[in-house]
Amino acid sequence: MRANLRLLLSLRVLPWRVARFYWRARRHALRSADHFSLASAARPAELAQLLTLAEGREAVVELGTGTAWSAIALALDDRARQIVSYDPSVRAEREAYLDLAGRQARERIELRAEPDTRGPHLGDPPVQLLFIDSEHQREPVLAAFRTWRDALAPDAVAVFHDYTHPDYPGVREAVVELGLAGWEVGGVFVWRAP
Ligand SMILES: C[S@@+](CC[C@H](N)C(=O)[O-])C[C@H]1O[C@@H](n2cnc3c(N)ncnc32)[C@H](O)[C@@H]1O
Repeated sequence: MRANLRLLLSLRVLPWRVARFYWRARRHALRSADHFSLASAARPAELAQLLTLAEGREAVVELGTGTAWSAIALALDDRARQIVSYDPSVRAEREAYLDLAGRQARERIELRAEPDTRGPHLGDPPVQLLFIDSEHQREPVLAAFRTWRDALAPDAVAVFHDYTHPDYPGVREAVVELGLAGWEVGGVFVWRAP
C-alpha cells in the first residue's frame, strides 16, 4: 500500500499517458515476478528527464532495449516520434509491455535484435536523441558512442544513463575518455552535438 502510494507520487513527474503505462507495466511486472524489468527499467524521475531532453526530437535511437519500458515511454510521449532500439537479447517478457503500449505507439517502435555496435542501417535518418543504456562498462560505452557519433544530427543529444550510479563507474570513465563537454542532470550525462 505504502509502496503504491510512493509510486503514484513519483509518477506525477510524467506525462499522463506515460504515467498510466508505467503504473500498468509495474503492476504486470510484480504479478509476473519480472524482476529484470523491475531492476533495469529507468525510474520515473529518470524517464521524466529523458522525455524533457527528447522534446521536439522525433528520430530517437536507444541502445539497450531491455523490456522496452523507455522505448514505449518515448513513443507514448510524442505521437510523431520514431524509436529504433537495439538489443541482441530478445526478452520474452517484453511482449506484454509492448501490448500495454497500444497499437499507435507500438507501430513507431522498431526493435533490432542487434548489438549497439552494429550502427545505423542504410537509409536511417540522422539521430536526434541517442539514449545509451546497454552495457555499462568503459570499453563497450566507448565503442557504442564511437559507432553512433557520426549518425547524430546537428544539435542532437546523446544521453548516457547511469552516469552517476556507483555500480557503473565505467560510464563516467568512458565520458571522461571521450572528452565530452556536457552536463549531468538527474543521474544522466548529456552531450549536445555541434
Ligand atoms: C539496463 S537494460 C536496458 C533498459 C532499458 N533501456 C529501459 O530503460 O527499459 C540493458 C540492456 O542492454 C542490453 N545489452 C547488453 N549489451 C548490449 C549491446 N552490445 N548492444 C545492445 N544492447 C545490449 C542487455 O541485454 C539489456 O537488456
